Amino acid sequence: MAFSPRKIGIIGSGLIGRSWAMIFASADYKVVVYDNSAAQLSNAKEEIDKQLHGLSEQNLLRGDIPVQKQIENIEFTTNFDACTKGAKYIQECIPELIDLKRKIFNDLDNVMSDESIVGSSTSAIPSSRFTNGLKHKSRMLVVHPTNPPYYVPLTELVPAPWTDSDVVDEVYRLMQEIRQVPVKLTKEVYGFVLPRVHHAVLMESWKMVQDGIISIEDVDKVMSDGLGTRYAFMGPLETRHLNFKGGFKDGCKPHVWEVSNDSGPNARLEGPLLEIIQEDFNKRIPLETLAERRAWRDTRIAALSKFKRDMSNC
Ligand code: NAI
Repeated sequence: MAFSPRKIGIIGSGLIGRSWAMIFASADYKVVVYDNSAAQLSNAKEEIDKQLHGLSEQNLLRGDIPVQKQIENIEFTTNFDACTKGAKYIQECIPELIDLKRKIFNDLDNVMSDESIVGSSTSAIPSSRFTNGLKHKSRMLVVHPTNPPYYVPLTELVPAPWTDSDVVDEVYRLMQEIRQVPVKLTKEVYGFVLPRVHHAVLMESWKMVQDGIISIEDVDKVMSDGLGTRYAFMGPLETRHLNFKGGFKDGCKPHVWEVSNDSGPNARLEGPLLEIIQEDFNKRIPLETLAERRAWRDTRIAALSKFKRDMSNC
Protein backbone atom coordinates (compact mmCIF):
# COMPACT_ATOMS: atom_id res chain seq x y z
CA MET A 1 0.00 0.00 0.00
CA ALA A 2 1.45 3.38 -0.99
CA PHE A 3 2.30 6.00 1.61
CA SER A 4 -0.64 8.36 2.04
CA PRO A 5 -0.06 11.81 3.57
CA ARG A 6 -3.78 12.04 4.50
CA LYS A 7 -4.08 8.61 6.13
CA ILE A 8 -3.98 8.24 9.93
CA GLY A 9 -3.97 4.88 11.71
CA ILE A 10 -5.42 4.55 15.20
CA ILE A 11 -4.63 1.39 17.19
CA GLY A 12 -7.23 0.68 19.89
CA SER A 13 -10.80 1.98 19.87
CA GLY A 14 -11.33 2.68 23.59
CA LEU A 15 -11.87 6.08 25.18
CA ILE A 16 -8.65 7.60 23.86
CA GLY A 17 -8.62 5.96 20.41
CA ARG A 18 -12.16 7.25 19.75
CA SER A 19 -11.18 10.78 20.71
CA TRP A 20 -8.10 10.77 18.47
CA ALA A 21 -10.20 9.44 15.58
CA MET A 22 -12.71 12.28 16.00
CA ILE A 23 -9.95 14.90 16.27
CA PHE A 24 -8.14 13.78 13.10
CA ALA A 25 -11.42 13.39 11.19
CA SER A 26 -12.37 16.95 12.13
CA ALA A 27 -9.24 18.13 10.29
CA ASP A 28 -10.29 16.11 7.23
CA TYR A 29 -7.80 13.27 7.62
CA LYS A 30 -8.84 9.78 6.53
CA VAL A 31 -8.73 7.79 9.74
CA VAL A 32 -8.59 4.00 9.95
CA VAL A 33 -9.25 2.65 13.46
CA TYR A 34 -8.02 -0.86 14.27
CA ASP A 35 -8.98 -2.93 17.31
CA ASN A 36 -8.49 -6.64 17.98
CA SER A 37 -12.01 -6.76 19.43
CA ALA A 38 -14.81 -6.53 16.85
CA ALA A 39 -17.29 -5.76 19.66
CA GLN A 40 -15.21 -2.79 20.83
CA LEU A 41 -15.01 -1.48 17.26
CA SER A 42 -18.73 -1.73 16.82
CA ASN A 43 -19.26 0.19 20.13
CA ALA A 44 -16.73 2.77 19.01
CA LYS A 45 -18.50 3.32 15.68
CA GLU A 46 -21.86 3.75 17.38
CA GLU A 47 -20.46 6.04 20.09
CA ILE A 48 -18.49 8.24 17.66
CA ASP A 49 -21.57 8.63 15.47
CA LYS A 50 -23.69 9.60 18.47
CA GLN A 51 -21.08 11.96 19.92
CA LEU A 52 -20.40 13.78 16.65
CA HIS A 53 -24.11 14.31 15.97
CA GLY A 54 -24.58 15.52 19.56
CA LEU A 55 -21.63 17.93 19.31
CA SER A 56 -22.92 19.22 15.99
CA GLU A 57 -26.38 19.90 17.46
CA GLN A 58 -24.80 21.81 20.34
CA ASN A 59 -22.56 23.75 17.95
CA LEU A 60 -19.49 22.27 19.65
CA LEU A 61 -18.13 20.28 16.70
CA ARG A 62 -14.42 20.76 16.00
CA GLY A 63 -13.17 21.65 12.54
CA ASP A 64 -14.77 23.37 9.58
CA ILE A 65 -16.28 20.40 7.74
CA PRO A 66 -19.83 19.06 8.07
CA VAL A 67 -20.58 16.36 10.62
CA GLN A 68 -21.50 13.76 8.00
CA LYS A 69 -18.15 14.22 6.23
CA GLN A 70 -16.35 13.86 9.58
CA ILE A 71 -18.20 10.58 10.22
CA GLU A 72 -17.35 9.33 6.71
CA ASN A 73 -13.69 10.16 7.33
CA ILE A 74 -13.48 7.34 9.91
CA GLU A 75 -13.24 3.65 8.98
CA PHE A 76 -13.11 0.72 11.39
CA THR A 77 -11.22 -2.52 10.86
CA THR A 78 -10.00 -5.65 12.59
CA ASN A 79 -7.28 -5.91 9.94
CA PHE A 80 -4.01 -4.53 11.32
CA ASP A 81 -2.40 -4.02 7.89
CA ALA A 82 -5.42 -2.15 6.53
CA CYS A 83 -5.01 0.34 9.37
CA THR A 84 -1.26 0.78 9.43
CA LYS A 85 0.19 0.28 5.97
CA GLY A 86 1.18 3.53 4.27
CA ALA A 87 -0.27 5.73 7.03
CA LYS A 88 1.37 9.12 7.49
CA TYR A 89 0.94 8.88 11.24
CA ILE A 90 -0.17 6.11 13.60
CA GLN A 91 -1.45 6.77 17.13
CA GLU A 92 -1.30 3.79 19.50
CA CYS A 93 -4.09 3.73 22.10
CA ILE A 94 -4.07 0.23 23.63
CA PRO A 95 -4.14 -0.48 27.40
CA GLU A 96 -1.36 0.75 29.66
CA LEU A 97 0.59 -2.51 29.87
CA ILE A 98 4.24 -2.55 28.93
CA ASP A 99 4.15 -6.03 27.38
CA LEU A 100 1.19 -5.10 25.16
CA LYS A 101 2.91 -1.86 24.11
CA ARG A 102 6.14 -3.71 23.30
CA LYS A 103 4.33 -6.31 21.20
CA ILE A 104 2.28 -3.76 19.22
CA PHE A 105 5.30 -1.52 18.58
CA ASN A 106 7.20 -4.54 17.33
CA ASP A 107 4.31 -5.36 14.97
CA LEU A 108 4.16 -1.73 13.84
CA ASP A 109 7.90 -1.70 13.19
CA ASN A 110 7.41 -4.56 10.72
CA VAL A 111 4.70 -2.87 8.64
CA MET A 112 5.22 0.90 8.85
CA SER A 113 6.75 2.79 5.96
CA ASP A 114 10.07 4.61 6.42
CA GLU A 115 8.16 7.91 6.20
CA SER A 116 5.52 7.04 8.82
CA ILE A 117 5.64 8.16 12.45
CA VAL A 118 4.16 6.32 15.43
CA GLY A 119 3.03 8.09 18.61
CA SER A 120 2.00 6.30 21.81
CA SER A 121 -0.83 7.66 23.97
CA THR A 122 0.75 6.12 27.09
CA SER A 123 0.08 8.11 30.27
CA ALA A 124 3.27 7.13 32.02
CA ILE A 125 5.56 4.65 30.26
CA PRO A 126 8.61 6.19 28.55
CA SER A 127 8.70 5.00 24.93
CA SER A 128 12.34 3.91 25.27
CA ARG A 129 10.97 0.97 27.28
CA PHE A 130 9.07 -0.41 24.30
CA THR A 131 10.85 0.93 21.18
CA ASN A 132 14.38 -0.14 22.12
CA GLY A 133 15.98 -2.21 19.34
CA LEU A 134 13.32 -1.49 16.71
CA LYS A 135 14.29 -0.58 13.13
CA HIS A 136 12.11 2.54 13.08
CA LYS A 137 12.73 3.62 16.68
CA SER A 138 13.88 7.09 15.57
CA ARG A 139 10.33 7.63 14.23
CA MET A 140 8.56 6.66 17.48
CA LEU A 141 7.73 8.78 20.54
CA VAL A 142 5.09 9.43 23.21
CA VAL A 143 2.23 11.68 22.13
CA HIS A 144 0.29 11.96 25.38
CA PRO A 145 -3.20 13.49 25.21
CA THR A 146 -5.12 15.01 28.11
CA ASN A 147 -8.45 13.51 29.11
CA PRO A 148 -10.97 14.26 27.61
CA PRO A 149 -8.81 14.86 24.50
CA TYR A 150 -11.59 16.14 22.24
CA TYR A 151 -12.04 19.15 24.54
CA VAL A 152 -8.71 19.53 26.33
CA PRO A 153 -6.14 20.05 23.59
CA LEU A 154 -2.85 19.87 25.53
CA THR A 155 -0.65 17.12 24.07
CA GLU A 156 2.79 16.25 25.46
CA LEU A 157 5.42 15.13 22.96
CA VAL A 158 8.02 13.02 24.76
CA PRO A 159 10.91 11.74 22.65
CA ALA A 160 12.99 8.70 23.55
CA PRO A 161 16.77 9.37 23.51
CA TRP A 162 16.82 8.06 19.90
CA THR A 163 13.76 9.88 18.52
CA ASP A 164 14.80 12.08 15.59
CA SER A 165 14.27 15.77 16.43
CA ASP A 166 12.80 16.33 12.94
CA VAL A 167 10.17 13.69 13.80
CA VAL A 168 9.26 15.56 16.99
CA ASP A 169 8.97 18.79 14.95
CA GLU A 170 6.82 17.05 12.35
CA VAL A 171 4.42 15.73 15.01
CA TYR A 172 4.39 19.18 16.61
CA ARG A 173 3.20 20.68 13.30
CA LEU A 174 0.67 17.88 12.80
CA MET A 175 -0.79 18.51 16.27
CA GLN A 176 -1.06 22.23 15.53
CA GLU A 177 -2.77 21.46 12.23
CA ILE A 178 -5.44 19.35 13.97
CA ARG A 179 -5.85 22.11 16.58
CA GLN A 180 -4.26 20.30 19.49
CA VAL A 181 -1.86 22.30 21.63
CA PRO A 182 1.48 20.44 21.62
CA VAL A 183 4.28 20.95 24.12
CA LYS A 184 7.73 19.40 23.61
CA LEU A 185 9.72 17.74 26.36
CA THR A 186 13.44 17.59 25.63
CA LYS A 187 13.87 14.23 27.34
CA GLU A 188 11.99 11.42 29.03
CA VAL A 189 11.00 12.19 32.60
CA TYR A 190 9.01 9.98 34.99
CA GLY A 191 5.33 11.01 34.87
CA PHE A 192 5.84 13.54 32.02
CA VAL A 193 4.95 17.19 32.83
CA LEU A 194 1.18 17.61 33.11
CA PRO A 195 0.81 14.71 35.57
CA ARG A 196 3.72 16.06 37.66
CA VAL A 197 2.09 19.49 37.95
CA HIS A 198 -1.27 17.82 38.64
CA HIS A 199 0.28 15.63 41.35
CA ALA A 200 1.89 18.67 43.02
CA VAL A 201 -1.56 20.31 43.33
CA LEU A 202 -3.11 17.06 44.55
CA MET A 203 -0.32 16.62 47.13
CA GLU A 204 -0.70 20.14 48.54
CA SER A 205 -4.50 19.76 48.70
CA TRP A 206 -4.17 16.43 50.52
CA LYS A 207 -1.76 17.86 53.08
CA MET A 208 -4.03 20.80 53.92
CA VAL A 209 -7.06 18.53 54.38
CA GLN A 210 -4.89 16.19 56.46
CA ASP A 211 -3.79 19.09 58.70
CA GLY A 212 -7.44 20.06 59.23
CA ILE A 213 -6.92 23.45 57.58
CA ILE A 214 -9.74 23.15 55.07
CA SER A 215 -12.55 20.77 54.14
CA ILE A 216 -12.48 18.37 51.17
CA GLU A 217 -15.18 20.31 49.34
CA ASP A 218 -13.59 23.70 49.94
CA VAL A 219 -10.08 22.73 48.82
CA ASP A 220 -11.58 21.67 45.46
CA LYS A 221 -13.20 25.12 45.21
CA VAL A 222 -9.77 26.72 45.61
CA MET A 223 -9.03 25.30 42.14
CA SER A 224 -12.44 25.33 40.42
CA ASP A 225 -13.46 28.83 41.51
CA GLY A 226 -10.03 30.26 42.24
CA LEU A 227 -6.79 29.30 40.55
CA GLY A 228 -8.47 27.21 37.86
CA THR A 229 -10.43 30.15 36.52
CA ARG A 230 -7.33 32.05 35.47
CA TYR A 231 -5.36 28.89 34.70
CA ALA A 232 -7.83 28.30 31.87
CA PHE A 233 -6.06 31.18 30.12
CA MET A 234 -2.51 31.36 31.45
CA GLY A 235 -0.04 29.31 33.44
CA PRO A 236 1.50 29.90 36.87
CA LEU A 237 4.58 31.68 35.50
CA GLU A 238 2.67 34.26 33.48
CA THR A 239 0.20 34.68 36.35
CA ARG A 240 3.16 35.62 38.55
CA HIS A 241 4.40 38.10 35.97
CA LEU A 242 1.01 39.80 35.68
CA ASN A 243 0.28 39.89 39.41
CA PHE A 244 3.32 41.86 40.55
CA LYS A 245 4.24 45.46 39.89
CA GLY A 246 7.81 44.57 39.00
CA GLY A 247 6.76 41.51 36.97
CA PHE A 248 7.97 37.94 37.38
CA LYS A 249 11.17 38.65 39.35
CA ASP A 250 9.18 40.66 41.85
CA GLY A 251 6.80 37.71 42.28
CA CYS A 252 9.61 35.26 43.06
CA LYS A 253 10.64 36.72 46.43
CA PRO A 254 11.67 34.23 49.18
CA HIS A 255 8.02 34.13 50.22
CA VAL A 256 7.30 31.39 47.63
CA TRP A 257 10.11 29.24 48.97
CA GLU A 258 9.13 29.86 52.58
CA VAL A 259 5.47 28.96 52.07
CA SER A 260 6.36 25.86 50.03
CA ASN A 261 8.80 24.69 52.70
CA ASP A 262 6.23 25.25 55.42
CA SER A 263 3.94 22.64 53.89
CA GLY A 264 6.36 19.89 54.90
CA PRO A 265 7.44 16.69 53.14
CA ASN A 266 5.28 14.84 50.62
CA ALA A 267 2.75 12.42 52.04
CA ARG A 268 1.68 8.98 50.83
CA LEU A 269 -1.96 9.13 49.80
CA GLU A 270 -3.08 6.34 52.09
CA GLY A 271 -4.37 5.61 55.60
CA PRO A 272 -7.51 6.92 57.35
CA LEU A 273 -7.74 10.13 55.26
CA LEU A 274 -8.01 8.06 52.09
CA GLU A 275 -11.09 6.32 53.50
CA ILE A 276 -12.58 9.61 54.72
CA ILE A 277 -12.22 11.30 51.30
CA GLN A 278 -13.61 8.26 49.45
CA GLU A 279 -16.56 8.14 51.85
CA ASP A 280 -17.21 11.86 51.36
CA PHE A 281 -17.30 11.43 47.57
CA ASN A 282 -19.41 8.28 47.82
CA LYS A 283 -22.06 10.45 49.45
CA ARG A 284 -21.82 13.44 47.14
CA ILE A 285 -21.06 11.61 43.85
CA PRO A 286 -21.96 7.91 44.28
CA LEU A 287 -19.97 5.59 42.01
CA GLU A 288 -23.08 4.64 40.04
CA THR A 289 -23.46 8.31 39.03
CA LEU A 290 -19.87 8.78 37.83
CA ALA A 291 -20.79 8.50 34.14
CA GLU A 292 -23.47 11.16 34.57
CA ARG A 293 -21.07 13.47 36.40
CA ARG A 294 -18.38 12.92 33.74
CA ALA A 295 -20.89 13.91 31.07
CA TRP A 296 -21.69 17.03 33.15
CA ARG A 297 -17.95 17.82 33.28
CA ASP A 298 -17.41 17.19 29.57
CA THR A 299 -20.27 19.52 28.56
CA ARG A 300 -18.73 22.33 30.57
CA ILE A 301 -15.19 21.67 29.36
CA ALA A 302 -16.49 21.54 25.78
CA ALA A 303 -18.17 24.92 26.16
CA LEU A 304 -15.03 26.40 27.75
CA SER A 305 -12.87 24.95 25.01
CA LYS A 306 -15.11 26.46 22.32
CA PHE A 307 -15.06 29.79 24.14
CA LYS A 308 -11.25 29.69 24.22
CA ARG A 309 -11.10 28.90 20.49
CA ASP A 310 -13.49 31.76 19.71
CA MET A 311 -11.50 34.13 21.96
CA SER A 312 -8.23 33.22 20.24
CA ASN A 313 -9.63 34.77 17.04
CA CYS A 314 -10.20 38.11 18.84
P1 NAI B 1 -9.29 1.50 26.88
O1 NAI B 1 -9.12 0.32 27.75
O2 NAI B 1 -10.53 2.33 26.95
O3 NAI B 1 -9.11 1.06 25.35
C1 NAI B 1 -8.09 0.21 24.90
C2 NAI B 1 -8.54 -0.42 23.59
O4 NAI B 1 -7.45 -1.16 23.04
C3 NAI B 1 -9.73 -1.41 23.71
O5 NAI B 1 -10.70 -1.08 22.75
C4 NAI B 1 -9.10 -2.77 23.44
O6 NAI B 1 -10.00 -3.67 22.80
C5 NAI B 1 -7.96 -2.38 22.51
N1 NAI B 1 -6.85 -3.33 22.47
C6 NAI B 1 -6.32 -4.07 23.47
N2 NAI B 1 -5.27 -4.77 23.02
C7 NAI B 1 -5.16 -4.50 21.69
C8 NAI B 1 -4.29 -4.94 20.67
N3 NAI B 1 -3.29 -5.78 20.91
N4 NAI B 1 -4.49 -4.46 19.42
C9 NAI B 1 -5.49 -3.59 19.16
N5 NAI B 1 -6.34 -3.15 20.08
C10 NAI B 1 -6.17 -3.59 21.34
O7 NAI B 1 -8.00 2.42 27.17
P2 NAI B 1 -7.88 4.01 27.04
O8 NAI B 1 -8.39 4.65 28.29
O9 NAI B 1 -8.42 4.42 25.73
O10 NAI B 1 -6.28 4.19 27.09
C11 NAI B 1 -5.46 3.92 25.98
C12 NAI B 1 -4.08 4.51 26.24
O11 NAI B 1 -4.19 5.93 26.42
C13 NAI B 1 -3.40 3.96 27.50
O12 NAI B 1 -2.02 3.85 27.28
C14 NAI B 1 -3.68 5.06 28.53
O13 NAI B 1 -2.73 5.10 29.57
C15 NAI B 1 -3.58 6.31 27.65
N6 NAI B 1 -4.28 7.48 28.20
C16 NAI B 1 -5.48 7.31 28.85
C17 NAI B 1 -6.12 8.41 29.38
C18 NAI B 1 -7.42 8.24 30.10
O14 NAI B 1 -7.81 9.15 30.84
N7 NAI B 1 -8.14 7.14 29.89
C19 NAI B 1 -5.56 9.79 29.25
C20 NAI B 1 -4.34 9.85 28.47
C21 NAI B 1 -3.73 8.72 27.99
